[in-house]
Amino acid sequence: MWRDKLDTSVTEKVISLAKKRGFYWQAYEIYGGVGGFYTLGPLGTRLKDNIIRVWRKIFLEPYEFIEIESPTIAPYIVFEASGHVGSFKDAMAECLKCGNKYRADHLLEEKGVKVSEATSLEILEKLLNEKNVSCPDCGSVSWKVSSFLTMFQTNIGPYKENVGFLRPETAQGMFVEFKQLYEINRARMPFGVAQIGKAYRNEISPRQGLIRLREFSQMELELFFDPLNDKCPYLDDVKDIRMNILDEEKVRNGDTLPHNVNAKEAVERGFVREEWLAFMMALSQKFLCTLGIRPEFQRFKAKLEGERAHYSAQTFDHEVLTGKFGWIEVAGHAYRQDYDLKSHSIKSRSSMEVVEELAQPIKVKKKLAYVDPSKVKRDFGDKSSEIFKLISSMKPFELAELLEKDGTIIANDIVIGKEYFIFKEVEETISTRKYIPHVIEPSFGIERIIHAVLEHSYNEKEDRVILSLKEEIAPYRYAVFPLVKRDGLDAKAKEIYLMLKIRGLSVIYDDDGSIGRRYARADEIGVCKAITVDYQTLEDNTVTVRDRDSWQQKRIAINTLL
Ligand code: ATP
Ligand code: GLY
Repeated sequence: MWRDKLDTSVTEKVISLAKKRGFYWQAYEIYGGVGGFYTLGPLGTRLKDNIIRVWRKIFLEPYEFIEIESPTIAPYIVFEASGHVGSFKDAMAECLKCGNKYRADHLLEEKGVKVSEATSLEILEKLLNEKNVSCPDCGSVSWKVSSFLTMFQTNIGPYKENVGFLRPETAQGMFVEFKQLYEINRARMPFGVAQIGKAYRNEISPRQGLIRLREFSQMELELFFDPLNDKCPYLDDVKDIRMNILDEEKVRNGDTLPHNVNAKEAVERGFVREEWLAFMMALSQKFLCTLGIRPEFQRFKAKLEGERAHYSAQTFDHEVLTGKFGWIEVAGHAYRQDYDLKSHSIKSRSSMEVVEELAQPIKVKKKLAYVDPSKVKRDFGDKSSEIFKLISSMKPFELAELLEKDGTIIANDIVIGKEYFIFKEVEETISTRKYIPHVIEPSFGIERIIHAVLEHSYNEKEDRVILSLKEEIAPYRYAVFPLVKRDGLDAKAKEIYLMLKIRGLSVIYDDDGSIGRRYARADEIGVCKAITVDYQTLEDNTVTVRDRDSWQQKRIAINTLL
């Protein structure tokens, strides 16, 4: 196993190789660099494209899930409705001497103090000051902790009041378009919608290369399903994928020995609440294995209540073990319930319900809620008309449902409790059923995957670097070399290079320097096979094909290359 041979230095080696050979490097270096912004170079962009291709092949194509591209900027109201304006915040520690700012939890973790994402600002501040955590810049040990909204804010057009945000996740673009997408998809349920694109987070102090960026790329899938018919028909297809799962109980007890189960067992044993969630986790493992990360270096770690995002009823982080950074999250798998669709439905006053024709009409009991105008007027005075306006846009059964669930209704920041409503129960015969779908979401960060894949492909042999990237994602599958740059060998090599290129294969041509140097350069960027044209080629139309990982060479006929 590589971790037996290579220590934590693999991370630094990968970062330096990435810069030297053009996978990625810090952006704006001529101006000193800006934390959290990286440029993908020529090899990085090819690797990224190939990773996206594999993702589509695994997550979308077999299930005919669809894909969209929505704007990366959204008006304030979208992220107000989604709950991000209220919740998308990190605890920020400010050094009281030099004024520099850091993520409070990260400073404590570096000092060996583990805190959960649910820890309050007050406790974080107390811990930083009591544990004498020193400022990485000036060494001072006095801190103030506050919360920081990590969305980038902008103005839409020349109007200061038209506030917008750069999206911190691609997901909202799919939720706000749900009704349109549902119709386009011919009203079939369950169905999946994906989006691949940039996301932006104004991280407080990003210092871990591609792991924590302020601008990064996500591949997200929203799987919409009926909560009363939540079976996933594909569990058998993934029965051989055994996942390392740290369920909520293990995380709570600090037990790091995972369960090793397939998706079906994970649901049956109660580790994962929904079949679709377990299925997506299994696909996620298959995806990373296809990229070259072995299952023993992967695990799914449950997030506890309070650590999860505001919309999630259950979340598993898909983590990969790396050299210097330890376990890093490359994907989050969340059960978002109907949180987002419901919130947008209320805020926009557009229905997000789908309609199911029932085989037989059925009788159902329905709770209805009606506002009590006299009580509202008595207690809310001037604000009453605002409240009536919002409430009149909702149906009595929607109101009843919401009040049952949350106990209150919030109208333009005014909280109206259950006591302002009169409840009735009625029996109805219905032949259709309306519901807001629930959502399972796998969400991947591409740059974190690029870093993890490079670490897991990095090998050294006889003091040389070999990037053993899987064929599906290697930036180049073939390199074509003339043994020497004369006597017609170069012309023949160029002919073969063009022949492969015309067939759509990814191939480079290199005639610069000794053949040994060229092999080494190709190994270092993960080219799978090197084809060498020598004098014998001119006689019998054969070439040598050298394998990147074993360095073995075979002589084969040119016409068998394709
Ligand atoms: P973390 O806890 O590490 O900050 P997160 O839980 O906020 O991550 P999610 O909100 O679940 O991450 O985002 C989904 C995915 O997007 C992550 O699994 C990760 O791959 C990627 N991602 C999130 N934030 C960043 C970032 N700042 N830089 C690079 N990738 C990111
Ligand atoms: N869509 C999940 C996230 O980015 O937080």
